Amino acid sequence: MSVSSSKPSEPPPGARPDWTIDQGWSAYTPDEHAVWMTLYERQSALLSGRACDAFLNGLDALDLHRGGIPDFERINEELTRLTGWSVVAVPGLVPDEVFFEHLANRRFPAGRFIRRADQLDYLEEPDVFHDVFGHVPMLTDPVFADYMRAYGQGGLRALGLNRLHNLARLYWYTVEFGLIDTEAGLRLYGAGIVSSRAESIFALEDASPNRLGFDLERVMRTPYRIDDFQQIYFVIPSLDALLAATLSDFGPIYGRLAAASDVAIETVLATDDVITRGTQAYARARAMAAQ
Ligand code: PHE
Ligand code: FE
Repeated sequence: MSVSSSKPSEPPPGARPDWTIDQGWSAYTPDEHAVWMTLYERQSALLSGRACDAFLNGLDALDLHRGGIPDFERINEELTRLTGWSVVAVPGLVPDEVFFEHLANRRFPAGRFIRRADQLDYLEEPDVFHDVFGHVPMLTDPVFADYMRAYGQGGLRALGLNRLHNLARLYWYTVEFGLIDTEAGLRLYGAGIVSSRAESIFALEDASPNRLGFDLERVMRTPYRIDDFQQIYFVIPSLDALLAATLSDFGPIYGRLAAASDVAIETVLATDDVITRGTQAYARARAMAAQ
């Protein structure tokens, strides 16, 4: 599930007032379970040595491969024991305030449908593979779990202050597309990356994108792309550092952002902590091809 989704304002028929529905685990077909298993096996093989330890440990702790698409009730037992989080099923994208309200209460809203076997590599709306395989392992980490809860509270606040477009970029460049520096080298933790075969490789190995040290205000000034690989990734030094950087009051930052301009997506500033300066060759080739 991503932030800043939109949005009818009433839950669809059959959903509860908080937009949750039953997962209906027994209704999945053998073909649907097989899609999960294919994706699971492909990604878990790719991610050892690429995803960070928190993600890989979470994947193990939740035993997400047992019996196909996970039953939320089963994974919630372990998840709640570890960090107080649970996964709830929703019919699709939910309004921003509903999404933040769930996060602020340590509930992660997840789609229950799964992509078709001919859509393994790309789909527009988050499905149960993106939401559960991509997001839930990190929620077993106590520090990341606290970050996500704080983000929910911050989201409600940003909505009231009209700065959600800035805060959504923080979600995008951390929760969805974040990289982390480790002793062994750069590793993945963003759900949008770890649930995508091609971007799991691109984000770490391709010469095209810029990779910059995480800076909160810089992130909130940087637009992102939703239709292709990222042109820029932000690298956190640790999960503790991410949480520490976001616990401060964003009020003064929002004040400054209201007067600051956005930074164009391919730009590297003199003040940036450059980890890799990208060639942008991939983005340029794609732009040419689209002309
Ligand atoms: N500290 C932020 C605020 O004052 C809230 C927040 C925490 C936002 C963590 C995102 C992540 O609004
Ligand atoms: Fe997501």
